[in-house]
Amino acid sequence: MRLDKFICGATTLTRRQAKKIIAQGRINCDSSVMRQTDYKIKETQVITFDDKILTMRGSRYILLNKPRGYICSNIDEQLPSIFNLIDIEKKEQLFIAGRLDADTTGLTLITDDGQWSHKVTSPRNKCKKCYRVELDAPITLNAIKKLGDGIQLKSEPKPCLPADVEVISEKDILLTIFEGKYHQVKRMFAALGNIVIALHREQIDDIKLDDNLDLGQWRYLSKKEVDSIDH
Ligand code: URA
Repeated sequence: MRLDKFICGATTLTRRQAKKIIAQGRINCDSSVMRQTDYKIKETQVITFDDKILTMRGSRYILLNKPRGYICSNIDEQLPSIFNLIDIEKKEQLFIAGRLDADTTGLTLITDDGQWSHKVTSPRNKCKKCYRVELDAPITLNAIKKLGDGIQLKSEPKPCLPADVEVISEKDILLTIFEGKYHQVKRMFAALGNIVIALHREQIDDIKLDDNLDLGQWRYLSKKEVDSIDH
């Protein structure tokens, strides 16, 4: 890896700032000053900045309990971005693994690990997503059967994968799906002639929202949670 890139990954410095401190002679590679920004460092080399040893920061994995009225985008648009809720450095390197609509609340995963994000979102991995759904009209037995068989959405070539339905009360259900098409849950109920009034994501695979994490709050995932997304 290039020296300036390594410094960015090991500190909060930008690429430009990294180049500057390299030029200032503040970086040593194995005890010798290194002023070449594109120098290719080896894993065994000890890199120091003002005599402090640098180690590469690992990837970041974040769980946010998304409130209504925020958008899953890196920039503010008509509504504020969810990144306004996360006060950490280098937010521009993070992205959202499975977006929620502005009016949907709940579990949102954020990371800078592209491969991990792909595992969460790729239809091939069939990650389980569990939603609490509040409906306009009572759910019918026929609707439960259709959801369980795999419902056909408008303008989709194939029906959805079979979904699991747990009825809490006639207008309040837990729906588990194994893919993540655009507006999928709302479209599934629209195809059944019903309307989703409120939607809250509670779980993705084994990663669950904690009871004590209020809307708008976030935490880092544990290693066990990160590793649980392994298909
Ligand atoms: N399905 C939807 O319709 N909206 C979401 O935000 C998530 C799943």
